[in-house]
Amino acid sequence: MAEQTLIIVKPDAVKRNLAEEILSRFEKKGFIISKQKTLNFTAEMAKQFYSAHSSKPFFDELVSFITSGEVVAAIIERDNAVSLTREIIGNTNPKEANPDTIRGDFGISITENSIHASDSSESFDKEVNVIF
Ligand code: CMP
Repeated sequence: MAEQTLIIVKPDAVKRNLAEEILSRFEKKGFIISKQKTLNFTAEMAKQFYSAHSSKPFFDELVSFITSGEVVAAIIERDNAVSLTREIIGNTNPKEANPDTIRGDFGISITENSIHASDSSESFDKEVNVIF
């Protein structure tokens, strides 16, 4: 059965004009893009979106980066969407991500790691409400 997940192409990748290429990687893997939107996160949205990380030492950096420029958000769907998307994006730290993953190919640092994806269907439900 089709499952949905959310991806956010982050400011470092949008600035380098990588959004189309990144979205097309999912389409090539059989995902349907059901909604897509270009937006700027406000600080309020960022804090809500990343609330699970609010006590982490990198929280301020996270909020500052995600609000630093345009992002492209998309709801994508196919069977096994959440776990397959995690595989396609690769390790959070680009230095540890495999080649051929999005972060392995395009990520600059653990903060400027090019893409976010929901890590569970519960996270998807919460995150999608911040964006769409
Ligand atoms: P993302 O998938 O958007 O979800 C949370 C983000 O926190 C993650 O990508 C990273 O960009 C960031 N992050 C995770 N761990 C660290 C860390 N140790 N230092 C700085 N940023 C981090």
